Amino acid sequence: MFNALPSAQLLSLADSFGLPLFVYDAATIDRQIDTLKSSFDVPSLEIRYACKALSTIGVLKQIYKHGCGIDTVSPGEMIMALEAGVPASHISFTPSGVLTEEYAFAIEKGVHVHVDQLHVLEWMERHFPGTAITLRFNPGIQAGGHSKLQVGSDGSKFGFLTNQVEEIFKRTSAMSLRVTGVHMHLGSDIGDSGSFDQAYEFLLNVARHWRDSIERIDLGGGFKIPYHPNDHAINIEAFGKKVSKRFNQFCDEIGRNLTMVLEPGKFLVSAAGNLLMEVTGVREEGPLPMAFVSSGFNHFLRPMSYGAYQHIINLSNPDGEVRNYDIVGYLCETDSFATNRPMHAIRKGDILCLMNAGAYGFTMASNYNGRFRPAEVLVGTDGTPALIRRAETIHDLLRTYTGYTPV
Ligand code: LLP
Repeated sequence: MFNALPSAQLLSLADSFGLPLFVYDAATIDRQIDTLKSSFDVPSLEIRYACKALSTIGVLKQIYKHGCGIDTVSPGEMIMALEAGVPASHISFTPSGVLTEEYAFAIEKGVHVHVDQLHVLEWMERHFPGTAITLRFNPGIQAGGHSKLQVGSDGSKFGFLTNQVEEIFKRTSAMSLRVTGVHMHLGSDIGDSGSFDQAYEFLLNVARHWRDSIERIDLGGGFKIPYHPNDHAINIEAFGKKVSKRFNQFCDEIGRNLTMVLEPGKFLVSAAGNLLMEVTGVREEGPLPMAFVSSGFNHFLRPMSYGAYQHIINLSNPDGEVRNYDIVGYLCETDSFATNRPMHAIRKGDILCLMNAGAYGFTMASNYNGRFRPAEVLVGTDGTPALIRRAETIHDLLRTYTGYTPV
């Protein structure tokens, strides 16, 4: 369920590369891709990894080895995917509310664009007539973990709304733009595959409007992985089976084989990642012992942003007596990784491992409090570690200051 890298290896990486440190396991990424691929039985399946989860180039290369494409939301992500050697034909652009210049950038690079606003369609018809596009729709369905992670309901900012479908059909019929795909994304941490049923029917109904030009049906991502030892994952095999059956019926209905597109983020990389942090001290005097670590929400935001549970283990004292701790970061405001958490006794100098740190860890990291972002190491399938990003230094903090002269 979690990253299978042995503790001894993680401790040795901490020693060689310094702390804090993100460590990713290529074998876990490979396994997640294989699981996803084997769960679907459709004429054509395309995985477009949502690289907002983790966009480090070394990781994108690992994912592209399996032929997966990359879904991006900014020129920055597109460039990172291209830099990783992913051809533009395997990259998509699914932004939200961006300037049309960003769509122009994507189209000029040959990246497939997803559109969910009328003014963008009109602009594209004027400037890039004939372009093949995917339309993103909002099925008006609430699904996903934390409320901030639910984006498929009517009040959400994403996608054309259910009451816009007819209008969008009318408008695109009068345009030269070619609608070759329809898309939805319901949210993140969707553990109940039943949430997809209604949304999926909705998307197929929408797809019928463009039945003559449609090539791809994109179900988005959001497939839940377990964060807690007693937590569950989405039953991806059952989901894949059910959805494939419905998809194949739809292909029969329109008399053509279409491509099913999936856009997983977390599912591919979350369990592959660990954040290793050093304990700077333990305060015994409060209501609970409190362990301070040399990291914070500047490196890993999920607990503070979504109240998310992240499993943490004490790599240095695996057999110590179990006590409950508050585990806090070093930032100068409330900065909590865990509250009242049973842990093997924590001592100053111990190394803690925050698990499931692959997705939305490094990509959401910042320089808050003038802190550097950590290095990232990818452990290859043969067990060899590779430094795929060095830790930042003071020069990285200063170099955008106009008065800075690098020494
Ligand atoms: N496709 C689209 C259009 C998306 O917006 C997203 C995620 C995905 C795919 C991938 O979703 P995933 O499979 O990773 O759940 N920072 C939050 C998650 C935000 C997700 C944003 N969109 C977290 O740490 O839980």
